[in-house]
Amino acid sequence: MSRHLLNILDLSVTEIDELIATADDILACPEKYREVCKYKTLATLFFEPSTRTRLSFESAMLSLGGNVLGFSDSASSSAKKGESVADTVAIVSGYADIIAMRHPKEGAPLVASEHSRVPVINAGDGGHHHPTQTLTDLLTIRHEKGRFDGLTVGLCGDLKFGRTVHSLIEALSRYEGIRFVLISPEELKLPSFVKQTYIKEKGLPYSQSTSLEEVIGELDILYMTRVQRERFFNEEEYLRLKDSYILTPEKMRLAKEDMIVMHPLPRVNEIAVEVDDDPRACYFRQAYYGKFIRMALIMKLLGLSAEKGETV
Ligand code: CP
Repeated sequence: MSRHLLNILDLSVTEIDELIATADDILACPEKYREVCKYKTLATLFFEPSTRTRLSFESAMLSLGGNVLGFSDSASSSAKKGESVADTVAIVSGYADIIAMRHPKEGAPLVASEHSRVPVINAGDGGHHHPTQTLTDLLTIRHEKGRFDGLTVGLCGDLKFGRTVHSLIEALSRYEGIRFVLISPEELKLPSFVKQTYIKEKGLPYSQSTSLEEVIGELDILYMTRVQRERFFNEEEYLRLKDSYILTPEKMRLAKEDMIVMHPLPRVNEIAVEVDDDPRACYFRQAYYGKFIRMALIMKLLGLSAEKGETV
């Protein structure tokens, strides 16, 4: 039976540590991995736009010696003619060994997994989850901060619709000494089920603020997010909220010298380009790491390793 990745909690903390170790080994010795996925094919089924996730998945599979196929726009697939996700995946799982899928509807990757003969990876479903972004974030934190425990993590911007925030909170809630600082306008607060299940019920310390300036000095990590225009019902509301937070060099002067700035990207206006030259800005390094953790994940779900070939 295939193993899927729909939610970051589908992976144990130990498995995440193993993926990070594999990604580090790939970064150090990429030549060892050049043929691990020879004759294997990844399908990328993207019903929503993407740059980083789709291309890093494709780059990951190509660097493992495998092949890629798929679509980057649902309008060029038979979804445009009304084909269901279930039927699409039932067909594509006969053409590929593993599927990465992004869809605007929450739960679509779960439906896909129920109709697939091969592993399905959730590459983002609506405002729900984005587990491979979280793996990317965790690899970045390990590289930049050296640990997961004892960090004060500020999440800023669209905490309501930002699926990367939801998955990251779920993941970090499993480590010791984590404190969350939730920074958003009232209208874009973290959904209550995420706050209740992963912060309150676990007894994790947290605070909420509408002001980035007031709390930035407390943070070890500032995780900025884009206001998710595509999830708003009302364009006027989006226009009113879109520039709620703009990180500038002036605000960075209020932060700790070793605070890091993360962002899943794409950025619109929420981080001024002048911040890019600050060594604490690590969002471009973060996007780079995404390829290597996805290489590790593809190998894991296919049961392959550089040392042993097929492991299952
Ligand atoms: N971080 C992220 O998911 O980026 P893309 O939308 O470009 O894939």
